[in-house]
Amino acid sequence: MKYVRMPIEIESPEEMGYSTIQYNLAESSVRDIRLSDLNIDLSNLVLFYGEHKGIPKLRETIKEKSKILSADDVLVTSGAATALFIAATTLLNPADHLVVIRPNYGINLETPRAINCAISIIDLKFEEEFALDVNKIRKAIQPNTKLISITNPHNPTGKVFDENIIQQLVQLAEENNCRLLVDETYRDLNFQTPLKPYVAERSPNVISVSSVSKSFGAPGIRIGWLICRDKKLMHDFLAVKEQICLCNSVVDEEIAFHLLHNKKTILEKNHEHIRNNFAYFKQWFAQQKYLEWVEPTAGVVCFARLKAQYKMDTEMFYEKLYSQYSTIVGPGHWFEQNKIYMRIGFGYPVFEELKTGLNNLNACLEQSM
Ligand SMILES: Cc1ncc(COP(=O)(O)O)c(C=O)c1O
Repeated sequence: MKYVRMPIEIESPEEMGYSTIQYNLAESSVRDIRLSDLNIDLSNLVLFYGEHKGIPKLRETIKEKSKILSADDVLVTSGAATALFIAATTLLNPADHLVVIRPNYGINLETPRAINCAISIIDLKFEEEFALDVNKIRKAIQPNTKLISITNPHNPTGKVFDENIIQQLVQLAEENNCRLLVDETYRDLNFQTPLKPYVAERSPNVISVSSVSKSFGAPGIRIGWLICRDKKLMHDFLAVKEQICLCNSVVDEEIAFHLLHNKKTILEKNHEHIRNNFAYFKQWFAQQKYLEWVEPTAGVVCFARLKAQYKMDTEMFYEKLYSQYSTIVGPGHWFEQNKIYMRIGFGYPVFEELKTGLNNLNACLEQSM
């Protein structure tokens, strides 16, 4: 395996230093919480090795009220990032083939590249409102295709693919005896529509991935999970996890349990914040001179771009936005797209920060033309 660091990680706010950024419109999550916000007492926690799959009460809470899934269909991992790594390294060898959508979160592309398998990339296009065409995926499938990989709700567009598209993909995976990976890291940020069950419920060929990072504002505890009904595959996933880390931190797992146990209350509060910010963001976009967007439906980001009639030096623009306005967005190259595209996050900032951040963005665009 040959690992390459990804621009989205090298240039991430945490690597640049949070204290250097006042208006952070680059995040795809809600604001990070403090341990003290949780009113949780960990003083009696025994710091033993945790159960390798993840502590049972946490796995039970992750599967929610599903009558189809069991707690044994859940494997707790260090964030969704590790879940994606485990899935790719278990399912793909150099002789195998992957069909994956782009733009996408980096690991979904980068780990398969490190494995050096054959990859067919299906590009979602702004002009097509980032729609996912199942026929393109169908045509890309080859005899050695082991995995179809999508992200839904989608990062960086905030798009939610139609129910019927997801169902067709599940069928496609079954017919072709391959797996469908659905990165559902943003599922709990479905702030406009009722939450749907994990796609992994529908077939043993499906693997769902998610975490507490984005919707609970707890990326620092590094808790995510894989869900799959295929027992043999779950056994293989566990073997990978044991070779990486044996088990998760029991402290992290206890905090994650607390978050998921109080999910309803926490998400109600977070969704209200997101809806307020989104309402303002929509008004701002309605008057936006330089940028255009495909309005997102879930998550807390959109993938906007510079309108065709405008030209700017993108390097200078991002540099000025950061150094003069202390504001950042996620530039297109984080997602292997031209830098005229930018991911703008509206869930992380508090309301006043969002307003100022968007004003700064507009002023910097104005100056850069
Ligand atoms: C689609 C997607 N999957 C996975 C991850 C990784 O998240 P985690 O913090 O749970 O590892 C991210 C982070 O940005 C993401 O956007």
